[in-house]
Amino acid sequence: MNPTLLIPLSAIAYLLLSLLRRRKSLRFIQGPPVSSWLLGHEYELANQSEVGDLEFKWFRDYGTVFRSAGCCGEDILMVSDAEALHHILNTGGYRYPKTRDAVRFIKQISGRGLTWAQGAVHQRHKKALSPAFSESQLRMLLPLFQMYSDKLALRWRERFADSQIIDISHWLPKVTLDVLGESSFDFQFGSLDDKSSDLRVALQTMFASSQRPSKFTLFLRAWKRALPDSVVEYFEGIYVTEEDIRFKAYVDAAKGAARELLEENSSNLVANGEKIAQESHDYLKGAEGKKDMLNMLLRSKAAEDPKKRLDDDEVLSQVSTMIFAGFEITACTLTWIIYELSRKIEDQQKLRAEIDAVRVKRGEDAVLTSNDYDTMHFLNACIKEGLRLHPGVQFTTREADLDDIVPLAQPVISTSGEVLKKIPVMKGQRVHIAIAAYNRSSSVWGPDADQWNPSRYLDPSSESKKQQSMIGVFGNVMSFGSGVRACIGWRFAVIEMQAILVCLLTQFEFELPPGGLDIQTVPLRSMNAPMLRGKLDQGLQMPLVVKRRVRADV
Ligand code: HEM
Repeated sequence: MNPTLLIPLSAIAYLLLSLLRRRKSLRFIQGPPVSSWLLGHEYELANQSEVGDLEFKWFRDYGTVFRSAGCCGEDILMVSDAEALHHILNTGGYRYPKTRDAVRFIKQISGRGLTWAQGAVHQRHKKALSPAFSESQLRMLLPLFQMYSDKLALRWRERFADSQIIDISHWLPKVTLDVLGESSFDFQFGSLDDKSSDLRVALQTMFASSQRPSKFTLFLRAWKRALPDSVVEYFEGIYVTEEDIRFKAYVDAAKGAARELLEENSSNLVANGEKIAQESHDYLKGAEGKKDMLNMLLRSKAAEDPKKRLDDDEVLSQVSTMIFAGFEITACTLTWIIYELSRKIEDQQKLRAEIDAVRVKRGEDAVLTSNDYDTMHFLNACIKEGLRLHPGVQFTTREADLDDIVPLAQPVISTSGEVLKKIPVMKGQRVHIAIAAYNRSSSVWGPDADQWNPSRYLDPSSESKKQQSMIGVFGNVMSFGSGVRACIGWRFAVIEMQAILVCLLTQFEFELPPGGLDIQTVPLRSMNAPMLRGKLDQGLQMPLVVKRRVRADV
């Protein structure tokens, strides 16, 4: 598209935005000063050197709710207040859907899968997929998680000296990708065997230049937000960016791999004829059957009831969705947890002692079960603390579907000095759900909210124990989201992290390299990724000293 066309388009967008803004003013709420009407705070927020620093400061300055500025004078409600979050995400159900631009973006990067679906369509998708994420189903996958964890340990023992610096951020995604592929789709990525795949390459390059959006990109996004989908789709058809091409390459590769898998398995269905058809029929009537994701997808595709059926494209999109949403973020969380355990060696020793004690009790040769992991309270506390301090997703956005009153746990002071215990919002109001800021909120977690302290989950008198806010799905942290759109894969991720951490801590010790590490949190492929300050061009990095543990039995 000729860029000069953007001038008249911007004028139209300006008019539309101005009309919308006038209705949705939050001027009675305090917020940071704005230096640019055109970009608001969007550029500053998207280009912070350390992800979150600006939000954390603003939440400290203005309270758990404040007003920030979007492009062209839009008011955005920034929320880290526990009661407000509960109201919006849990009580609100589908009344605070994802924003239109977020939905469009999700469709572009992973297709019409669960993360894209809204309202009744979301319910249909969730119904089809939930059995694959039930606790009993996931417990059945544990041996697979353990097998891949052992394979990682074996690779390190084969390839590295007894004590060597290893970039763990390079290795952990290999395990989580192999686990996700095999457990969910019967697909062998072979990452731990150094196999390359089109899908993996497309995934790694899809966000090559999108981490620090330019002013123009942010303005373009705001412009798209103001226009109807059909108009945006028309312009996207004639003005294709490099980013669009990379996103498409990933979705095409994921759907291509999914199509092959499904065809292969559908032909098994045909080959096995009546037996499988009967099993499928029984399942749809509620009987037990295989409930891994591939089977659930095949069954949804074959369902006769339109309320349960997923169309072909929806089925293929679930594969790109789960791969995109599931493996890297789990690996990234694990990387942060091992980093924190390397900084706090006493906690690493305490955790290892807990694991050893369970192993001794169960017998050194016994294969640990999910119950064993659940009894390791310090292990689970470390996982919660890693998720809390380093949430993979910094924030998410929602839009009010109705005029509403949002209650607050912590009142804030209005611009006229009034104490506000509730915030009125109008239909269409954009809301920034500040996951990371809630996770560090001192009103919930106490004065050491910014510090690594897994013991906070074990001490009944600790501030965070007293302030349980009933949001989130695990340990009162917001890192998996909350309510009807919370992460469907949270149990999968927790069990996987338990298995990998227990395996690695049994066999290795982790330390910071001599001289320490200067780690910066940088947005990467929509995650908060650790990188070395001054070496951001080298991407995700976490080089730690990994020492083989000297034990007769390992
Ligand atoms: C530590 C690991 C993980 C973290 C921190 C995480 C975080 C999140 C968050 C914050 C959301 C909600 C986003 C929103 O409300 O806008 C979400 C949704 C989702 N996650 Fe995860 N996730 C993790 C692992 C996984 C895994 C392993 C899978 C799949 C195997 C997965 C699949 C999904 C899907 C499909 C959704 C969309 C759910 C829906 O909209 O109903 N995630 N995740």
